[in-house]
Amino acid sequence: MTAPVLLVEEPAPGVRLLRLNRPEARNALSMALRRELVRCIAQASDDAAVRVVVIAGNERAFAAGADIKEMANASTVDMMARGVLGLWRATASCTKPVIAAVRGYALGGGCELALLCDMVIASETARFGQPEIRIGIIPGGGGTQRLVAAIGKHRAMKYLLTGAMFSGREAFEMGLASEAVPDDQVDARAVELACEIAALSPLAVQQLKDVALRGMDLPLDAGLALETKALHLLFSTEDQKEGMAAFIEKRPPKFEGR
Ligand code: CAA
Repeated sequence: MTAPVLLVEEPAPGVRLLRLNRPEARNALSMALRRELVRCIAQASDDAAVRVVVIAGNERAFAAGADIKEMANASTVDMMARGVLGLWRATASCTKPVIAAVRGYALGGGCELALLCDMVIASETARFGQPEIRIGIIPGGGGTQRLVAAIGKHRAMKYLLTGAMFSGREAFEMGLASEAVPDDQVDARAVELACEIAALSPLAVQQLKDVALRGMDLPLDAGLALETKALHLLFSTEDQKEGMAAFIEKRPPKFEGR
């Protein structure tokens, strides 16, 4: 029996950890792995018990990009039939916060997967990069757009045009990673942050993610209007009443997601 390409773990209540599991190929994103990731992300979005998703790999690789062996002989029509853009969109559409726990290589599609997550916890020595240009192609999972947005045009163009790698420490310093931590603490730190978020009001968390991400594609004034509407909407939730009552009564809040 072959090992599943994606392992589903529950390291803490409310936290769903999806572990890419193709160690023999440095977690290269085969079509099977991409489809499984989409299926598990949709499942997590639909499950009220899941508050936060963590995507992790192993100590050698988060993911070394698209599976080159799977597409080396593909034609344009074959590439179109793969429908990869739809899979990326589905992965990015998770309604719960998604944290990437990056150890080892995060290259090509692996770097793009980290870029579409809401937070990135990187090992100091992780190796990020968009090496597509070195194999005669360009990124296809958002690298040309999200890397520029994450670290700025001139730094991004250096990495996009040369395919050079950068470390997790550099990723943090440039604003791609939320934190850079020692290698052996990456998964634990990602789960710790996930637990922190899992204890908050899921309604407020969901609105926050929705407004912040939608706002990135909107003019400032439209984003601010969206923010105000979402804030006002939260005043119809029990969680808002509980959160503010707990503050006034000097006790920890107990959010029920209502
Ligand atoms: N696709 C398919 N197989 C891959 C792979 C990939 N992206 N990355 C690694 N592997 C395989 C290797 O072929 C090798 O398999 P075999 O043992 O059968 O030979 C195995 O994983 C281990 O790889 P290495 O021996 O190369 O391991 P290493 O530790 O010496 O190097 C690495 C690791 C730097 C990640 C190197 O494997 C590498 O450069 N990989 C390719 C990275 C890359 O170019 N990614 C971009 C892909 S294109 C993309 O993502 C964008 C898009 O879709 C448009």
